[in-house]
Amino acid sequence: MSTPKRTKGVIIIKITVCIGSSCHLKGSRQVVEGLQSLIAENKLEDTVTLGAAFCMGRCQPGVSVSVDDEVFSVTPETLGEFFAEQVKAKI
Ligand code: FES
Repeated sequence: MSTPKRTKGVIIIKITVCIGSSCHLKGSRQVVEGLQSLIAENKLEDTVTLGAAFCMGRCQPGVSVSVDDEVFSVTPETLGEFFAEQVKAKI
């Protein structure tokens, strides 16, 4: 399990969404848009960074999303639960 980085007392969590072709077909666009909304709704713009990457070499049932160095399988349907457990719980 990775440790969030701290910069000037603020926890920076780095989320990266795979936008490779396999993950794109599984909804990476909806996952990115959902994460953007969740970050804004929770006012986490200064705490969470959101990026994208091509195939992470971890093609799995859902979209590959990394939180710091840990990779998860996320679908648009499980995004809310994922965000609560893997992002908000660490802040
Ligand atoms: S296309 Fe996303 S991990 Fe391979």
